[in-house]
Amino acid sequence: MILKGKKGIIFGALDTKSIAWKVAELAHKEGAEFILTNAPIALRMGTINELAAKTNSEVIPCDVSVQEDMTKLIDAAIAKFGQLDFVLHSIGMSLNVRKKNPYTDLNYDFMHKTLDISAISFHRLMQTLYQKDAMKEWGSIVGLTYIAAQRVFPDYNEMAEAKSLLESFARSFGYHFGKAKKVRVNTISQSPTMTTAGSGVGGFDAFYTYADKMSPLGNASAESCAEYCISLFSDYTRYVTMQNLFHDGGFSFTGISNDLMDVVAKISE
Ligand SMILES: NC(=O)c1ccc[n+]([C@@H]2O[C@H](COP(=O)([O-])OP(=O)(O)OC[C@H]3O[C@@H](n4cnc5c(N)ncnc54)[C@H](O)[C@@H]3O)[C@@H](O)[C@H]2O)c1
Repeated sequence: MILKGKKGIIFGALDTKSIAWKVAELAHKEGAEFILTNAPIALRMGTINELAAKTNSEVIPCDVSVQEDMTKLIDAAIAKFGQLDFVLHSIGMSLNVRKKNPYTDLNYDFMHKTLDISAISFHRLMQTLYQKDAMKEWGSIVGLTYIAAQRVFPDYNEMAEAKSLLESFARSFGYHFGKAKKVRVNTISQSPTMTTAGSGVGGFDAFYTYADKMSPLGNASAESCAEYCISLFSDYTRYVTMQNLFHDGGFSFTGISNDLMDVVAKISE
């Protein structure tokens, strides 16, 4: 029960595969209370009410690109819980990826939307929390990201830029939130994971297998990502802030694995 008595908001649980879904299940098990939120359309299409019933949570709609929605959500959270201990931002969406537009032929209206939903929303969330003094001292804010922010994965497309921006917001806002309110802000850079957002990326299956073979520990699952999130919400990580934390089985620091050497050796025969 390492989150006993802690209150928070979890963004991004769409269905049972969602990373945010696993975080909500585990946070509940560890004693936390929280509000679940997602975009109105996702609430209609997904199965979040099942999760809400299971975890005794209220569901409040919020399209993260709409300030009015964000303001209403944070006001409702403060009214329900007072100041918050933790917030999870587990959100990603790219219309260019959905429409399969190649990186060299992107639609800029779509790109604006991608950056707004997938990255600027993290700033919007933190700014709203900050201005309303909604976080408790030593509270924790976590966003989810991917290593395409540092290294090129061609099919990840414009989401690479969205993730770079997201990680940068975590560092910059982490400074201000830390200084003023002793609140920590981090991003977790997760392995490829079989979810709706994940499998929307072109060639995802090959991508997934490549990362799995490259990582000494194999790909980190959504469940293990949830465990890492919970540790960052807990009091055991109070001085970890402004970090991009790789949760990827060692992928980020592996040059080449023996498994992949074997594959390459076969090709070069
Ligand atoms: N799946 C992977 O391979 C992988 C790897 C690394 C990082 N991530 C990141 O993990 C996070 C969660 O993704 P997931 O893999 O669980 O997939 P998911 O599809 O289950 O979750 C993405 C969520 O974003 C929500 N969303 C989209 N537009 C929104 C809007 N306008 N307002 C509010 N919510 C909106 C969706 O409704 C959905 O719940 C994302 O940031 C994703 O980029 C995923």
